[in-house]
Amino acid sequence: MNGLNIRICDLYKVHHTGKIEVQALRGLNLDIPAGELVSIIGPSGSGKTTLLNIIGGLDKATAGTVQVGDRTVTALSVRQLVDFRRKMVGHIFQNLNLIPTLSAQENIEFSMVASGVPRAKRKQRVQELLGTVGLLDRASHKPEELSGGEQQRIAIAAALANDAPVLLADEPTGELDTANAKIVVEYLVKINRGLGKTILMVTHDPSVARASSRILRIEDGLIKTSLAPSEVIVKEKAVSYVDQLRARINEINAELDQLDSDFRTEKICGDDYVQKRQSLKHIKDSLKEELSRMGVLPP
Ligand SMILES: Nc1ncnc2c1ncn2[C@@H]1O[C@H](COP(=O)(O)OP(=O)(O)O)[C@@H](O)[C@H]1O
Ligand SMILES: [Mg+2]
Repeated sequence: MNGLNIRICDLYKVHHTGKIEVQALRGLNLDIPAGELVSIIGPSGSGKTTLLNIIGGLDKATAGTVQVGDRTVTALSVRQLVDFRRKMVGHIFQNLNLIPTLSAQENIEFSMVASGVPRAKRKQRVQELLGTVGLLDRASHKPEELSGGEQQRIAIAAALANDAPVLLADEPTGELDTANAKIVVEYLVKINRGLGKTILMVTHDPSVARASSRILRIEDGLIKTSLAPSEVIVKEKAVSYVDQLRARINEINAELDQLDSDFRTEKICGDDYVQKRQSLKHIKDSLKEELSRMGVLPP
């Protein structure tokens, strides 16, 4: 099925962990025309995965609406969501999520078994999809016998198995080296252009983001900017990802200081103070985590 448009209005998501509330999305609006390939960039903890999971029906919104074509995802029942997930979205994740005991072709076939596609049709479709991702010669390989890039291409084929109009890719190249990342992105572009799928791709790699027609920067649960790829190259060169992470940590430190002072001078009440502090602390910790994952010390 060709791509469908995605329309998001005033989307909010509050995650609860025990008594702590984290505002992951804060009134986000977004319109993606059918058949567009859009990248989403932004610091760790800014709400990118939450957004994708709500669009894909894996997570429930706190408020607001998400429409995919003429379906209002945020209004679907649990049963309708199962159907929506099977037919309308293909989801690709960062950590290669193939079933290790199944071969490449079985992994692709697997999602069609659940949808009740007859065996002969499945076999034919698997061949077609292996061709789409350029891996016909790897059909019987187990995931561990494939490179990271090849595994991710099989995951893309599996996500396409039911011919869903929308593909959601959450850091699909996050665990790949540059060469493999480039190949995987080339296939996503090919699928976008050739099959007309609407694709939303989260990435923190500007060179990956450049393959899309629009790059959205999300910060603190809101889309802050929408850029053409050419604009990003210039800006990302000037400010590296690490610098951006560091700058955000410094900003949060300043916000924390301000918050402490507001509390001392009784400008905010205790409940508000605790909640805001927890939430800022949470974001700061995930940013620090991201830096340490990259082998960089926090500021
Ligand atoms: N299931 C969850 N429970 C509690 N907090 C969560 C959950 N998922 C995400 N969060 C928090 O919501 C915020 C946004 O997270 P996420 O959408 O994963 O961001 P990103 O993908 O941009 O790194 C973060 O502060 C994160 O810690
Ligand atoms: Mg994420």
